Amino acid sequence: MTDDPSPDPPPHVQRAAVRDGYDGMAAAYSRERDAPEAPLVASFLDPLDDGDRLLDAGCGQGTPVLNRVPAGVDAVGVDLSTSMLGLARQRADAALVRGDLTRLPVAADAVDAVTALHSVIHVPVSEHPAVFQEFARVLRPGGRLYLTAATGEDGWSGANEDWLGSGELMAWSFPGIDRTRGQLREAGFRVTAERVLDDTVADDDDGGAWTHLFARLAKE
Ligand SMILES: C[S@@+](CC[C@H](N)C(=O)[O-])C[C@H]1O[C@@H](n2cnc3c(N)ncnc32)[C@H](O)[C@@H]1O
Repeated sequence: MTDDPSPDPPPHVQRAAVRDGYDGMAAAYSRERDAPEAPLVASFLDPLDDGDRLLDAGCGQGTPVLNRVPAGVDAVGVDLSTSMLGLARQRADAALVRGDLTRLPVAADAVDAVTALHSVIHVPVSEHPAVFQEFARVLRPGGRLYLTAATGEDGWSGANEDWLGSGELMAWSFPGIDRTRGQLREAGFRVTAERVLDDTVADDDDGGAWTHLFARLAKE
């Protein structure tokens, strides 16, 4: 992985790189994706009742969330990448929509829970507050969020020109964990629990550990 010494690319450039990267490497990522957080996903989904609605934001290939949604729960997956959505379609009984986390194609107060596993870390760092405000907009008051975030105190932006040996460029950017917590608070969330787990992509030596954050939106 190469640190990028230059300023962050403009948001539209990073977004296009991430979209094209996942379009080109959907199968490779999906093959490498492990699910050490499966028990956390299961306990997050467990309180959902028949007719409740879940948004998986940056659902990718449909694992490890959409393929675990209990029968009776209405799930929607949103993702930038058509190829990732194509894989999700084979695995999940969910509505799947191409869209951007900063402008979710979802009505206000429409969902009971939002999951965003390893997706916000690809959004240009200047747009993370907008993503959390979108999560707050689409969640009903008191709704729940499960988010993965970078674990370190320092932020990082950069790219890997051949991620997972796929030949595709992939870009990430995130602030330190404290800034993420602060941005969640500013969007109206209260963090209720955190767990640090090892990386989810088996062959990514640089992966490190990620923080799994559980939060609840204020009731009003
Ligand atoms: C590392 S994959 C994670 C997929 C799945 N959530 C998981 O945990 O394996 C990141 C996904 O986020 C999507 N993504 C990245 N930036 C996005 C954005 N701005 N809007 C929507 N989806 C985005 C990518 O297309 C990709 O499918």
